[in-house]
Amino acid sequence: MKVVGGSASVPLARGIAKELRVENVEVAFERHPGGFPDGERYVRLLGPVAGEQVVLVQTTHPDPMIVEFFLLADALRDAGARRITAVIPYFGYGRQDKRFLDGEAVSAKAIAKHIAVDCDELLTMTFHNAELLKTFPIPAREISGIPALGRFLKSAEVDFLLAPDDNAIRFVKEAGALTGTPWDYLEKKRVDSHTVRITPKKLAVKRKSVAIVDDVISTGGTIATVTKELRSQGAHRVISACVHGLFVDNAETNLKDCDDVVATDTVQSPHTKVSVAPEFAAAIRALG
Ligand code: R5P
Repeated sequence: MKVVGGSASVPLARGIAKELRVENVEVAFERHPGGFPDGERYVRLLGPVAGEQVVLVQTTHPDPMIVEFFLLADALRDAGARRITAVIPYFGYGRQDKRFLDGEAVSAKAIAKHIAVDCDELLTMTFHNAELLKTFPIPAREISGIPALGRFLKSAEVDFLLAPDDNAIRFVKEAGALTGTPWDYLEKKRVDSHTVRITPKKLAVKRKSVAIVDDVISTGGTIATVTKELRSQGAHRVISACVHGLFVDNAETNLKDCDDVVATDTVQSPHTKVSVAPEFAAAIRALG
């Protein structure tokens, strides 16, 4: 077995290879210094993979990383890889999991269809709608990123966990069980891309150290609203914890009232403080 990482996931790919005690095949991402001036991607495998099971690690966000994923999968097949296990730590386009309006693309399905061209199986993490994975054209499994966050939250001595919406209940429940911490959740309604509204609810957070647990932080609008509510109910410390930290638009401003922000390395950012390499390594070992 060998591991290959796309440029969105180089440190994580190396971490997974180290956990598995297998070779990480390096990749060149630029043909000339500066790459292609028009922004097109370039990949070149710098080691042999013929006859190997190759674990291809690449988050498919932002969009050019999707193209890079397809280039790498194609290069691996042409180089004679025997089996390609796609590890997509953060599955970009996973949140459009159904057709809400006539004529819409089911984006998650569209991306999956193309992954299946060269890959034999897929492991992804804390996916928006795990049920959808059952409809993918290749075997696809969701691995939880919550144990990695749990390791951080345990050492941060948090005494209350909060899910910002009912979609995050399964995440907060798991984090609560792993850390032995009580939890609750809020009802959230999205007004627009940047604004959410929460239904008023009394929370047992007075003088508590609270962590908001979610799958994704995107603009940080959800975190800003929930942090304000926690402060108004007397929480003395607020930590924002997510598996996938996208941190787009005004995210840093929206997060400024948090005492700490933690994300995993499914998406590399300045808030990446824990690695999910052990979780993926365990899942890969279990594939057989
Ligand atoms: C929504 O269902 C997700 O779990 C997150 O709560 C959402 O993506 C966060 O977005 P934002 O940071 O833009 O509020």
